[in-house]
Amino acid sequence: TTAPGVHRGLAGVVVDTTGISTVIQETNSLTYRGYPVQDLAARRSFEEVAHLLWHGELPDEGQLRDFRARERALRPLDRTTLELLTRLPDTCHPMDVLRTAVSFFGAEDPAEDDGSPAANRAKSLTLLARLPTVVAADQRRRHGLAPIPPDPSLGYAENFFHMCFGGVPAPEVVRCFEISLVLYAEHSFNASTFTARVVTSTLSDLHSAVTAAIGALKGPLHGGANEAVMRMLLEIGDPRRAEEWLEEALAAQRKIMGFGHRVYKHGDSRVPIMQEALDRLVARAADPEATRLATLHAALRDAMAGRKGIHPNLDYPAGLAYHLMGFDTPVFTPLFVMSRVTGWTAHITEQLAHNALIRPLASYDGPDQRAVPDAA
Ligand code: CMC
Repeated sequence: TTAPGVHRGLAGVVVDTTGISTVIQETNSLTYRGYPVQDLAARRSFEEVAHLLWHGELPDEGQLRDFRARERALRPLDRTTLELLTRLPDTCHPMDVLRTAVSFFGAEDPAEDDGSPAANRAKSLTLLARLPTVVAADQRRRHGLAPIPPDPSLGYAENFFHMCFGGVPAPEVVRCFEISLVLYAEHSFNASTFTARVVTSTLSDLHSAVTAAIGALKGPLHGGANEAVMRMLLEIGDPRRAEEWLEEALAAQRKIMGFGHRVYKHGDSRVPIMQEALDRLVARAADPEATRLATLHAALRDAMAGRKGIHPNLDYPAGLAYHLMGFDTPVFTPLFVMSRVTGWTAHITEQLAHNALIRPLASYDGPDQRAVPDAA
């Protein structure tokens, strides 16, 4: 039980206004700057969506050309950053590497104290361009492989595959990845975005806010769920075991990863389009292991629908999709960061435009006031 007037987890509390995105609970829909996210995912590139989130409008042809040219030019990492990354233990989580890299970028940025909209726009684009290079180099290092430099002739998503695997997969695979990036890009006042806004509200810098947001996203109740989905599927192993496993897990009060949502109570609007992209990936793979995992994925979803009426969230189809694209499980949440950095930085700019220090109150339930005893 909670004390009267306390809103544990800020559930249902409206803390500010935003013009970036909204979840319309009645229709379970999500819009970015007014556009339904499923239409953006179906018809626009991730670069266009990043521009939309930052500037409020989709780019025209010239703006997109300029945006792409600048993003491509900013991708390479300098030698110092690459060396720093190799000094981190390869037993640490890739999210720790990413968090450290962003903190390091802040320490190196001569404009770190400049929180003007122009400086923050430049920093945001630099992060968008560089984070994939960090993620890819770190993934390769863990396999004992040298980093592959970015290729400026390739688009954002294609270049990422190139830097990870030394090749660009079939267009349907790239498209599936791009859909996930668009769907993950922004989601109003979720925990990591709110974290970024709290840090920004003290007039701290953009890299500090993004570093903190990465820490918030890492947890399994938030971004870490996409990795946890894959671990769970591998733990269940056999589609025929899905129902029995679920019954045991629910009896043990386990949270079923990739299900449930604080805001969507009747289904996550991002799931159908991601699920369709996943289905296309499975059909294209035409591989017994991919088909087996997809059968297991569907069996668990159906079993869950029957038991608790809790719906899958975006992490449920995205987790398996990333596995089928060839990414290592611990890289899934860093992929989420590569996308959500657009939403975080849009919110940082918006917070600064009408800033109020975020400093809530707490209801005290500790000991009554008492006298400090004399020291022994
Ligand atoms: N598995 C089993 N039971 C669940 C789940 C789940 N995934 N989600 C909610 N419930 C139950 C929960 O046990 C509770 O039941 P009861 O009333 O009997 O105690 C009821 O539903 C309400 O749950 P809650 O945890 O109070 O609701 P919340 O709004 O705090 O939880 C959530 C939202 C996302 C933390 C939770 O659904 C969860 O832990 N899900 C698993 C982790 C996950 O997939 N996270 C990704 C979220 S979406 C993408 C993102 O933001 O990163």
